[in-house]
Amino acid sequence: MWTFDERTTVANDTLTITDNRTGKTYEVPIADETIRAMDLRQIKVNDDDFGLMTYDPGFTNTASTRSAVTFIDGDKGILRYRGYPIEQLAEQSSFLEVAYLILKGELPTQGELDEWVYGVTHHTFLHENIRKLMDGFRYDAHPMGVFVSTVAALSTFYVDAKLIHNSEDRQHQIERLVAKTPTIAAFAYRHMMGLPYVYPNNTLSYPGNFLNMMFSTAAGYEIDPVLERALDVLFILHADHEQNCSANAMRSVGSSESDPYCSMAAAAAALYGPLHGGANEMVLRMLREIGDVTNVPAYIKRVKDREVRLMGFGHRVYKNYDPRAKVIKEVAYQVFDVTGRNPLIDIALELERIALEDSFFVERKLYPNVDFYSGIIYEAMQFPVAMFPVLFAIGRTPGWLAQWQELLTDSEQRIARPRQIYTGYEQRDYIAIGKRTDIRRMAGGS
Ligand code: CMC
Repeated sequence: MWTFDERTTVANDTLTITDNRTGKTYEVPIADETIRAMDLRQIKVNDDDFGLMTYDPGFTNTASTRSAVTFIDGDKGILRYRGYPIEQLAEQSSFLEVAYLILKGELPTQGELDEWVYGVTHHTFLHENIRKLMDGFRYDAHPMGVFVSTVAALSTFYVDAKLIHNSEDRQHQIERLVAKTPTIAAFAYRHMMGLPYVYPNNTLSYPGNFLNMMFSTAAGYEIDPVLERALDVLFILHADHEQNCSANAMRSVGSSESDPYCSMAAAAAALYGPLHGGANEMVLRMLREIGDVTNVPAYIKRVKDREVRLMGFGHRVYKNYDPRAKVIKEVAYQVFDVTGRNPLIDIALELERIALEDSFFVERKLYPNVDFYSGIIYEAMQFPVAMFPVLFAIGRTPGWLAQWQELLTDSEQRIARPRQIYTGYEQRDYIAIGKRTDIRRMAGGS
């Protein structure tokens, strides 16, 4: 790995820019197929000029960081964590091993894995006051809102959370967060259902313990190994996705040196939105609304008329089939062997079939994304739709933390603070309140 300026550049790796306002020519270096936005600042009309900026709402063509965590080739449909293809990890690895890989950069030895799993397993309990705090939410509170708030509240329980520049302290918070998110998620669900909390069981696997905390009753709960593995695979598939909306929120809040609990609460809040991790919930609601395979063509028409979006379709980066969706589709059938077939799968398959043949979707390169099939599996496993984004958040926790850690150890990073193009008024004088309506009318306002 190297820094921007250390990279091997050949003499021709430059961009020559002519400013037609002044006739001046500038040469800026190109490295890793990028130019530095700050290299444009020298381009000015006169000395008073601030200098040229780029305008990129939604960061569609701006690299905000250098990162060694996740590689995506959206055109080819490739996703790798630390160089390992997602398909191999989903087939051969476990979520906690993948979390270690994402966080530390390498696959663990057996000893390292045992130590990591032991550490996570023994931090799954919540302080009793956190449980009491969760009790205070309204009886039907959405579990994602409860999750976001409770993760933020953890910051008040760990004073060492503020020691973000100490790598040992960071490791403590990372272990705690990976360990406690399933407990918070399960407690949020039990609260919503009015059920007594089930405390963590250290003899169970990471996904097994979560299933037990979710679904155990007075009669106990038998963990089905197929469902346990399916959930582990779903967590693996969600573990990181480079600079997505929530990772960007984690980095943005983290860049002000906020503690990891508050930063991760911000990331989870970003995930909650229906265009991001809330999409799987919206997919299920959409499939239920469609109701029957025969209604699919009419729904596709509504999408093309821009009345609604086809949830679970399209992606900022993938302009090909999302590789995670391919794995999930396979997992769905394994889960259905245990739970019985979720009839919504037929509606989803028909939507996918029609969409992939229709020029509206083909021209825009809209393919199923990770959320298209995950909700159908979750529902078959008896998770209510409100829990879908929470499940996404459990899986994404190591990714957020790896992005946060990378930010803090990257000497090039500074507080995130974009520029703007100001479109408001020039300076104007304050108007006494009694005169304002008249003035606005005179200016043509309402
Ligand atoms: N249904 C219908 N049309 C769509 C869709 C969709 N799901 N997604 C994009 N388009 C159209 C959009 O209207 C636009 O058409 P035009 O150029 O004619 O105006 C074109 O495709 C490009 O769309 P965009 O909104 O500029 O693309 P974006 O990169 O800004 O948005 C997205 C990406 C994921 C927000 C969007 O595809 C979307 O809203 N999808 C549905 C929500 C969803 O499934 N989100 C989960 C994403 S995967 C999980 C995650 O990582 O969060």
